Amino acid sequence: MNNPENRAVLECRRLTKVFAEGPEKLKVLRGIDLLVSPAERVAIVGTSGSGKTTLLQLLAGLDHPSSGEVILCDHQLMKVSEQQQGELRNRHLGFVYQFHHLLPEFTALENVAMPLLLRKEVSVGQATMRAEEMLGMVGLSKRASHKPAELSGGERQRVAIARALVGSPDLVLMDEPTGNLDPHTASKIHELMKSLSEQLTTSFIVVTHDMVFARQMDRALRLEDGHLVPVV
Ligand SMILES: Nc1ncnc2c1ncn2[C@@H]1O[C@H](COP(=O)(O)OP(=O)(O)O)[C@@H](O)[C@H]1O
Ligand SMILES: [Mg+2]
Repeated sequence: MNNPENRAVLECRRLTKVFAEGPEKLKVLRGIDLLVSPAERVAIVGTSGSGKTTLLQLLAGLDHPSSGEVILCDHQLMKVSEQQQGELRNRHLGFVYQFHHLLPEFTALENVAMPLLLRKEVSVGQATMRAEEMLGMVGLSKRASHKPAELSGGERQRVAIARALVGSPDLVLMDEPTGNLDPHTASKIHELMKSLSEQLTTSFIVVTHDMVFARQMDRALRLEDGHLVPVV
């Protein structure tokens, strides 16, 4: 491309997903077009069951679309091997889910360092230093040696956010990251996400039910009847 700085981090074209439920066909996604620019923050809202999680799974290459294509940082996800997909995810993507998915037997610091430890070129020392830095950015330096069970719900989500960002991904996908938290803790996490997204060049796609937060992103879209439409 001529202007590499401005090329899309993620693009999907005419993405559809149909689940075959016995004789019934459930058309969850009916032709999704989405282009996410570098450092752009996109919120996705939609009622429960509208297909938000399905869409994020497709964008990450974790599920196959019924038709259409997903291009992550110039790579056609459906045209590379599963091993290459895994490498692309590790290098370019971070994830935060409603439930933290931290590994219970490891400390906060070890959990955050994990994505870097999967990269052959990164030493344990480098990974640990970078993980300490990220834990500092989410305000949890003092909890580095605690295991997930010893942390509050909000702290666990902070660790999950640090883990998603530790590898300097191009894009972070978040699926209702505050859906499991009380409103006060959720608003603290939203403030943290806004502050981090302003400091970093990472793009974000955040699925949320919080309309106030959604409107604070660069763009808010609603998943409705299998299509993405602007929130007005
Ligand atoms: N593996 C699957 N097989 C069949 N139906 C599914 C599957 N995954 C999701 N669905 C259905 O697709 C719809 C969208 O689900 P989902 O993407 O989880 O919605 P949301 O995240 O917006 O709540 C729901 O009706 C759900 O039951
Ligand atoms: Mg969901």
